[in-house]
Amino acid sequence: MSDPTELEIRSATAQDLAGMVRIYNHAVDHAVSTFDVEHRPDDHYAGYLASDRPGDHVLVAVDPMGTVHGYAFSGTYRPRAAYDGTRELSVYLDASARGQGLGRRLYDELLARVDADGIHTCIAVIAQPNPASEALHRATGFEPVGTLREVGHKFGDWVDTAFWQRMRPDARADA
Ligand SMILES: CC(C)(COP(=O)(O)OP(=O)(O)OC[C@H]1O[C@@H](n2cnc3c(N)ncnc32)[C@H](O)[C@@H]1OP(=O)(O)O)[C@@H](O)C(=O)NCCC(=O)NCCS
Repeated sequence: MSDPTELEIRSATAQDLAGMVRIYNHAVDHAVSTFDVEHRPDDHYAGYLASDRPGDHVLVAVDPMGTVHGYAFSGTYRPRAAYDGTRELSVYLDASARGQGLGRRLYDELLARVDADGIHTCIAVIAQPNPASEALHRATGFEPVGTLREVGHKFGDWVDTAFWQRMRPDARADA
């Protein structure tokens, strides 16, 4: 396993899609962090990659062999025009890469890009419980704004989702 602190963080390409989905499908099988219950195909994130809308980004953390160890992305929160200044963010790491600062590196780069695009506010939806994700979001400027009770059902239990929000640091300047 590569040292997570040495991995390159860059924009994703089509060659990274299958590696991203391998990580995602592990979460489908083992975690409530996604409410998907069936595996997604290798091109699951192709639509995110194809977007040229400012504020939409897909980042991967890769080793020199090109293996994807984690990814983070920003995309549409809800497909209505008045939400255009808002993005929903998400991040997934291979189990072996967690707890070593890689989530933070991915989010710092993603938020820098989203801020530079002038996005007003970022949303994260965190299924409960997920102390690592909550710590990452808190550390990168998000705050909890509310919890929806028992909106998901996975692994035989009802699952709450917590909404976290981060305004761009100079968002007050926005019209
Ligand atoms: C959530 C996730 C992306 C966090 O990334 P990470 O690389 O493990 O986290 P980092 O090492 O960058 O740590 C970020 C912060 O979280 C804290 N943290 C990390 N793991 C933690 C844990 N298991 N419990 C509590 N805090 C934790 C770190 O101390 C750090 O906080 P600090 O800056 O205040 O010290 C990663 O654990 C993961 O991929 N989990 C599975 C998928 C998932 O849940 N994605 C989120 C969906 S909302």
